[in-house]
Amino acid sequence: MKILVLNGPNINMLGIREPKIYGKETYASLLSKIQNHANERGIKLKMLQSNHEGVLIDEIQAAYKKFDGIVINPAAYTHTSIALLDALKAVGLPTVEVHISDVSKREAYRQISYVREACIATISGHGTDGYLEAIDLLIDHIKSMKNETL
Ligand code: DQA
Repeated sequence: MKILVLNGPNINMLGIREPKIYGKETYASLLSKIQNHANERGIKLKMLQSNHEGVLIDEIQAAYKKFDGIVINPAAYTHTSIALLDALKAVGLPTVEVHISDVSKREAYRQISYVREACIATISGHGTDGYLEAIDLLIDHIKSMKNETL
């Protein structure tokens, strides 16, 4: 099983940016935490962060028929990008939306998520553990989809 983990703009600044909201854990340590979890679960991962919407869209398109599912924290693009939503819909891969902070308790401009429409679940406000929960959820979902087609 192969899962693509995508992070949007400014997630590379974890540990530096607004630590009261996003915590002190760095992006590098988030990556090793996710990788360790994937190793424990016996699945393969590709992880990518970009500050550019088009790069994220290219990665989603390239995942078509190559990955079994996507974990995405689109960061600020969550609240602006119909293009990311369209890309997720185009490839049709099971996708889980993750937010480190609890966006539902934040500013009004963070209350819209365009990508949510293409996601099987959203995990918000569980800190970086949310990525691990998203991976577990995807694994269960992908396994149950495969059983249905047997
Ligand atoms: C975020 C929440 C977004 O509103 C914000 O723009 C981010 C990070 C989160 O993980 O909590 O950059 O996606």
